[in-house]
Amino acid sequence: MKQIRAIIQPEKLSEVRDALEKLGCYRGATISDIMGQGTQRGITQAWRGEKFQLDLLPKVSIDLVVRDEDVDTILRAIVESARTGEIGDGKIFVYDVEQVIRIRTGEMNEAAL
Ligand SMILES: Nc1ncnc2c1ncn2[C@@H]1O[C@H](COP(=O)(O)OP(=O)(O)OP(=O)(O)O)[C@@H](O)[C@H]1O
Ligand SMILES: [Mg+2]
Repeated sequence: MKQIRAIIQPEKLSEVRDALEKLGCYRGATISDIMGQGTQRGITQAWRGEKFQLDLLPKVSIDLVVRDEDVDTILRAIVESARTGEIGDGKIFVYDVEQVIRIRTGEMNEAAL
């Protein structure tokens, strides 16, 4: 099992969620409002002639734990639905997951997804 963490532009959340819902392999997600910075370290803005740096920008983080064979399908759906082609579109990280337990039933691992 893998954990997919997709950090995306907040305004893309509903489009990404719609794309995930269309996949037969989608089982659930944890959504968080976060602040972050990428390679540009935020953006420089001018206000009344003064320049100032907004170094952390609001993003949304989507965490999903999925079966290994579903990783590529889910990654493709996220990239296609979150992409505008502009800087700041986001980034996706994939991690190994050791164990999952459904508390209600005691089911383990893939049966618990
Ligand atoms: N190396 C990293 N480690 C951890 N989080 C990161 C990293 N790079 C980006 N992020 C997270 O992803 C968010 C979006 O990053 P962003 O899309 O700006 O990446 P980028 O590498 O700067 O690409 P781009 O050039 O398209 O902007 C950041 O706000 C931050 O939360
Ligand atoms: Mg960036």
